[in-house]
Amino acid sequence: LGKPYYYFPQIGSTNDEALHLAAQGAPHGTVAVAEEQTQGRGRLKRPWLSAPRSGIYLSILLRTPLPVREASQSNLVAALALVKTLRKEYDIPAAIKWPNDVLIHGKKTAGILTEMQSDQDYTRFLVVGIGMNVNYKKEQLEASFRYPGTSLAIERGRPIKRQELLLSFLQAFETEHDRFVKRGFESLVPALEQYSAILGKAVKVHTAREEISGKVSGFNSDGALKLLTDAGKEEVIWVGDVMQVE
Ligand code: BTN
Repeated sequence: LGKPYYYFPQIGSTNDEALHLAAQGAPHGTVAVAEEQTQGRGRLKRPWLSAPRSGIYLSILLRTPLPVREASQSNLVAALALVKTLRKEYDIPAAIKWPNDVLIHGKKTAGILTEMQSDQDYTRFLVVGIGMNVNYKKEQLEASFRYPGTSLAIERGRPIKRQELLLSFLQAFETEHDRFVKRGFESLVPALEQYSAILGKAVKVHTAREEISGKVSGFNSDGALKLLTDAGKEEVIWVGDVMQVE
């Protein structure tokens, strides 16, 4: 991953740029990175704070011959790679909040937005966009998140070299993604559970249809969330937004 590598001092959104490059035939592994975004996008049409020099804003183009349902679990693969990198290289106790956030001590420090499209010849591709709050100060993050936010620098007490983190992350993502493609998503489930921020916790999950309360009991072999509802039923949730209750 990272060949070719496009660097932008300022851009609207690296995801838009990667989608555009993909439409022009860019290869698997193409990476777009920006120092600052003016139209950074989050999930559910929320804006993503993208101040200069404070974060890493990165999009990776993946062309993998996987069925849609499996390919769309790439955001969890990216979250796992980031959590492993932060734990191993920086000793930061990061955890995954299904399906696409990375938390430290319950506060959001990175978000992932995965988008899928097709070329004219109907070959599918995926853009995985990652926004990391690296060197943000407390004042910069206040009121900008619906969910309480933090940065790596705040948690660690000193700034982090973004270039080094970016490289370590790309290597980790390549390793996890190779495993995912060769051995299936199932091979990642134990690590996802080990580093989960919500396993065993009481949560409220908003899906397109309803709001369900229960306890997270695990993740299935396709990356869906398993919930033991307050009514005592086991539910499997493919798409949803999780709010922790306790
Ligand atoms: C979320 O938590 O809602 C997902 C945030 C994803 C933000 C990243 S920053 C790089 C890439 N470009 C964008 O416009 N969004 C993603």
